[in-house]
Amino acid sequence: MAKTINNQQSTILITGGAGFIGSHVVRHFAQKYPHHKIVNLDALTYAGNLENLRDVEPSPNYFFEKGDIRDAVFLKNLFEKHQPDSVIHLAAESHVDRSIANPLAFVETNVLGTVTLLNAARDSWARGNSSRQPDFEGKRFYHVSTDEVYGSLGEEGYFTEETRYDPRSPYSASKAASDHFVRAYFHTYGLPVVLSNCSNNYGPNHFPEKLIPLVINNIRQGKSLPVYGDGQYTRDWLWVKDHAAAIDTIFHQGRDGETYNIGGNNEWKNIDLVRKLCDIMDELLGQPVGTSQSLITFVKDRPGHDRRYAIDASKLKNELGWEPTVKSEEGFRETAKWYLENEAWLAHVLSGEYQRYYEQQYR
Ligand code: NAD
Ligand code: DAU
Repeated sequence: MAKTINNQQSTILITGGAGFIGSHVVRHFAQKYPHHKIVNLDALTYAGNLENLRDVEPSPNYFFEKGDIRDAVFLKNLFEKHQPDSVIHLAAESHVDRSIANPLAFVETNVLGTVTLLNAARDSWARGNSSRQPDFEGKRFYHVSTDEVYGSLGEEGYFTEETRYDPRSPYSASKAASDHFVRAYFHTYGLPVVLSNCSNNYGPNHFPEKLIPLVINNIRQGKSLPVYGDGQYTRDWLWVKDHAAAIDTIFHQGRDGETYNIGGNNEWKNIDLVRKLCDIMDELLGQPVGTSQSLITFVKDRPGHDRRYAIDASKLKNELGWEPTVKSEEGFRETAKWYLENEAWLAHVLSGEYQRYYEQQYR
């Protein structure tokens, strides 16, 4: 049935809204801004799951469109149908291990898909505007990216917005290329863009190929917990709903052409994080402390594994006032509980096309 919107203020197209972070962003915007129309465009790959949005579906301001950001004709029709004023672009291939197994898929979606989407926005927003430099007043293209574009840190230091790009995996190279194209559309065509580069997210709906949900799920099933290499690799973990709030802040207050780093100020070495998750799971499952840690298995390292990521998010804090709100202990426990309470979700997402590429390719 068609939905009608009262007091509609603007239409926001969110790509990748059926995925992990995208589903939290869609929920955040649909609930916080009932007068905005939220259009979720997602191809529903192995990583996209509409179950992530069951509670949002009845909202009168929420619309779902299944489609591919690589498909220019589809995008043209979509822009004509919904007339979005802005885009928040999250759709991507997101898993580093899969990019090692199949780099081209990452070029196609993350690079070609992003450029096809930029073209669709530019064409649609410039239409009816005959001047050589169109007036994009009231429009915004928000590109969601990753800290991995900056490469790898040693024991010290942080990534700032000025850090030189140095992507080292096919995934991060594809995201770096997409970031460059977004900035090129700002400089060349005057498209009003804004970007953010964020650290590792965690929380509900995280696909269980990524470290935290994989460990929780494997403990649940009594399977081994694969820790790559020496386990001394470091990531900065951010509660996914804090990321959605940061995107809201930057979307509304960020300056055109600017980039904002987002981080959790929450660094963990992988082995320490896995041990912490083991202890939380033992407690939640009523098992003796140490039961889950016995499942830890050191395995062959990820090729080209980045040693450490750490984000300096002071620009976002000082200019726009955003800070992470959830402490890691609380967030990890919430996450573990969510997976224990959502076994049907886990069974469903793991029953589709998903295959653990890394295991197949590198062991
Ligand atoms: P995800 O893999 O969980 O979700 C990606 C979504 O994009 C899925 O719903 C999928 O169906 C959709 N998609 C993939 N290819 C598509 C295509 N060709 N057309 C339309 N839809 C397509 O990813 P995520 O972890 O939620 O990441 C979302 C975005 O945030 C990505 O751009 C990623 O690079 C970025 N990011 C992720 C993290 C993280 O920790 N997960 C951190 C920083 C930035
Ligand atoms: O930093 C932001 C990035 O974080 C995002 O851009 C990516 O989309 C997202 O997938 C994530 O990338 P990582 O490679 O850091 O996440 P992943 O969960 O795959 O791995 C986290 C760390 O844990 C990394 O050092 C590799 C290690 N690891 C991972 C898996 C899956 C293991 O030791 N064992 C595993 O089985």
